[in-house]
Amino acid sequence: MEDRRVVRVLGISGSLRGASSNSAVVRAAVRLAPAGVEVSIYCELGDIPPFNPDLDTETVPAAVSRFRAALEASDAVLISSPEYAHGVSGVLKNALDWLVGSGELIDKPIAVINASARATHAHAALCETLTTMSGRVVTDASITISLGGAALDADGNLSDPCLSTALTSAIEALARATPTRRSL
Ligand SMILES: Cc1cc2nc3c(=O)[nH]c(=O)nc-3n(C[C@H](O)[C@H](O)[C@H](O)COP(=O)(O)O)c2cc1C
Repeated sequence: MEDRRVVRVLGISGSLRGASSNSAVVRAAVRLAPAGVEVSIYCELGDIPPFNPDLDTETVPAAVSRFRAALEASDAVLISSPEYAHGVSGVLKNALDWLVGSGELIDKPIAVINASARATHAHAALCETLTTMSGRVVTDASITISLGGAALDADGNLSDPCLSTALTSAIEALARATPTRRSL
């Protein structure tokens, strides 16, 4: 019998901004996910406390615990993050630092979506960080989609069909690279 297990993807935006284009990308990923793929949005990035190795003990802050559990429950991850001062957004890097010791990203297939063609430094740094943490950055799923002014509609949703097609292809590539995916 055909195993039609669903690929569960955790979508993470590295921006806390209300009208964030990166958050729009993650919302679009939920909408565009093909049959057999479910994208859920992690929305507690702003609740993760500053990383302190002294607090990285058996009992970590509740938000960290929930973040780790959300990743543990996911087969793959999709991240879209802005570049600030040629670096990864502080909130995202901070959250990732909490995973270095606990290892939820080890071998996890990850799509790193870059929503700005100018943001080359942060994209490269994020891929380097994730790879160093033994995450599996999926090249075919890690794309740059340049969100111009017309790319988002009045509600802040991705409205450009070309970008939607590219994002759909990226999600499909991520699903293909995810071991639990038996068939779609
Ligand atoms: C403090 C700050 C620093 C920024 N630094 C850069 C930068 O170094 N390179 C870049 O391409 N964009 C930079 N930007 C622009 C943001 O990356 C861009 O506005 C992005 O769309 C923000 O993501 P969001 O729409 O998801 O919030 C910066 C923006 C801010 C607020």
